[in-house]
Amino acid sequence: MGNDPAKMKAEALSDFAKFIGPMKVRTMKAAGLDIIEDKREGVNVWDITGKKYIDCQTGSGIMNVGRRNPEIISALKKALDTYDIGVFLLCSKPKADLAKKLAGIAPGDLKCSIFGAGGGEANDAAIKIARGYTMKKEIIYTEKAYHGHTGFALSAIGRDAYKEPFEPLMPGFKMVPFGDIEAIRKTITADTAAIILEPIQGEGGINIPPDDYLPQVRKLCDDHEILLILDEIQTGFGRTGKMFASEHWGVVPDIMTVAKSLGGGIYPISATLFKEEIQDFFIPHPFIHLSTFGGSDLGCIVGMAVIDYIQKYDLAGHAELMGARFRAGFDALLKEYPSLLLDVRQKGLMMGLQYTNESIGPRMTKKLADRGVIAIYTGNDPSICRLMPPLVITPAEVDFVLDALSDAMKELSGEAGLGKND
Ligand SMILES: Cc1ncc(COP(=O)(O)O)c(C=O)c1O
Repeated sequence: MGNDPAKMKAEALSDFAKFIGPMKVRTMKAAGLDIIEDKREGVNVWDITGKKYIDCQTGSGIMNVGRRNPEIISALKKALDTYDIGVFLLCSKPKADLAKKLAGIAPGDLKCSIFGAGGGEANDAAIKIARGYTMKKEIIYTEKAYHGHTGFALSAIGRDAYKEPFEPLMPGFKMVPFGDIEAIRKTITADTAAIILEPIQGEGGINIPPDDYLPQVRKLCDDHEILLILDEIQTGFGRTGKMFASEHWGVVPDIMTVAKSLGGGIYPISATLFKEEIQDFFIPHPFIHLSTFGGSDLGCIVGMAVIDYIQKYDLAGHAELMGARFRAGFDALLKEYPSLLLDVRQKGLMMGLQYTNESIGPRMTKKLADRGVIAIYTGNDPSICRLMPPLVITPAEVDFVLDALSDAMKELSGEAGLGKND
């Protein structure tokens, strides 16, 4: 009986509930996503029972190169012949090579890197560097922002539910509405060190700012000698149709954070990139920010393989093309189901469907799971479904997801008595 998949699944869910948390299992069950991830390949993941899904959640965008990409796995296997994670205090060739590669692809003159293992850690480093370098205290962040659950990053999250139980948080953090330049202008003081932003808010609901927003923020920062930190942890590495989302608006930040897809879905790594002049801060304090697992040699080798892969196959260009194919399908759905679908927000393969009310997100999540698509409503807003498939998705796979959406909406409109637009 040991190999009966249904039994193995029940046991794994029961152990997960008992030893990790019952509410996680209950929530995933309600969403039709009580999956035990088993085989993974390209855009697909299989439940332990053999059911196949297209993964449009991808850990909120960690699988840009696809799940278990063979070229990345082969780079990691080869690295294991020589390397381990390395000693974080020592210099190594993989660390130097990845830092140099990142400097080569980053916008403008972001030349230096500090490595970490996760996104929150990268943002913590960014905020520490901003305060340390400017000798100023205040950090401006935005409503609905998501920068991670670590110390400084948590203080810059724009959602109270994540923060309230842990108050008091870091002092000196001031929240403004996203996309509102006047709000930033009014909040700046002589003690403002930095503004931290996602170029497009991910967790907040795929919020794309007005086109003049980021250039105006850049100008405000220049005028007031404030550092601009852009969190490209979800938006980076081709996701939006450019290597980094800031390139859509020609804006170069002073500090930029990357994580998620840099690890290719197989090895955790993050980086905080910054302009060369900021290096001055580290001259008297070269060991002021340390991370044992940050920038491990294996992670750096994986990061280089990921960047090579994205460039070799022009995944940013492919994201743009596949994004356009999705868009045509979304436009048809907007026309057909106006009582369900209100709006679509999209850059490349960073896509958000705005439903007409909050009950629709969870119901659509379940219906999509039934049809073999993993696409979950966002943490900040259940009326928004986020779609972030691997950038290696093919036209046929895009059509599969669109068919699943259309079929699910057809069923839902019948159930809810909301009706089609006919
Ligand atoms: C924009 C953004 N920043 C930071 C983070 C935090 O990254 P991590 O979970 O690796 O700490 C996330 C995670 O979803 C994110 O989407």
